[in-house]
Amino acid sequence: MSAGAASAAFDLAAWRTDCLQRLDDRMTAALPPDGTLPARLHEAMRYAADGGKRLRAMLVHACGEALGTPPDARDACAVAIELVHAYSLVHDDLPCMDDDALRRGQPTVHRAWDEATAVLVGDALQTLAFEHLAHPLDGDDPAFDAAARLACVRLLAQAAGSRGMCGGQIMDLEAESRRLEIAELESLHVHKTGELILACGRMAAAAADDADPARCRAIEHALKHLGLAFQIQDDLLDNDSSTETLGKTSGKDRIAGKATFPGLLGVPEARSRMRELFAEARDTLAATDGAEALRALIDTIETRRA
Ligand code: IPE
Ligand code: IPE
Ligand code: MG
Ligand code: MG
Ligand code: MG
Repeated sequence: MSAGAASAAFDLAAWRTDCLQRLDDRMTAALPPDGTLPARLHEAMRYAADGGKRLRAMLVHACGEALGTPPDARDACAVAIELVHAYSLVHDDLPCMDDDALRRGQPTVHRAWDEATAVLVGDALQTLAFEHLAHPLDGDDPAFDAAARLACVRLLAQAAGSRGMCGGQIMDLEAESRRLEIAELESLHVHKTGELILACGRMAAAAADDADPARCRAIEHALKHLGLAFQIQDDLLDNDSSTETLGKTSGKDRIAGKATFPGLLGVPEARSRMRELFAEARDTLAATDGAEALRALIDTIETRRA
């Protein structure tokens, strides 16, 4: 099935607006407000957490809708995953990692402040994510109880840690000095990017009261394919999109000697691999009740330019 065909009837724009409004309100409440001491750190944290496409938050909501996850639980997981993602970007941009000057159309945190501040911003965004998951807010639905919160904390920690995103990040750095086999590159991408994307669905499932096992399996399978597709697409965009469109410096992967799909396979084969993965993600969910938002989201991700 082609991108767009499966989700033609679903009003993704309205759904997305609602989703982003919920996320913005919750992010604002979670982040220490202007004037909270130490002001410098908190200002830089709010700066780093701002902007971006918010795809992971939307994935939490879309998966949660398909699995019957309570809205308050989806909100908490959406904030937590976006905070961890924002931290990963701040550290990814540091001179000791990718040494990038531009992120989300703005100077990176270490450029706008300094390296020590950027390290601490990443640390503090990550810990805030777990505090937010662990701590019920006034008026939160009691259905998102201590056991469900603990399960989400564990899933997010696993996805972000040494067997997840951090593991992928060190594989990425080590790969700057040697040529990888395709299976190694796939593992690198699955770890550095796929694990957090998969955690969106796993947290939504863990926070649902009684998620249907077949739907959980379908979502898990779809998100595994989406995560790898998303990072191959990121590699392709670095290669063929502009700095202005991306909001980050394009063409950097080649200069830095990064291991990428277009670098290893060439652009046409990387693109065809990416398309196969998107198709598999979409087809897996074709008959999944309640996955309208998720299918529509996957379709729009496939056509993104940034
Ligand atoms: C960028 O992720 C880093 C990758 C894992 C490829 P996004 O493209 O989702 O970044 P934002 O959140 O929209 O800035
Ligand atoms: C990022 O991969 C993965 C992270 C875990 C942050 P990249 O280094 O390719 O992401 P960009 O291109 O800088 O956003
Ligand atoms: Mg990187
Ligand atoms: Mg980078
Ligand atoms: Mg990249």
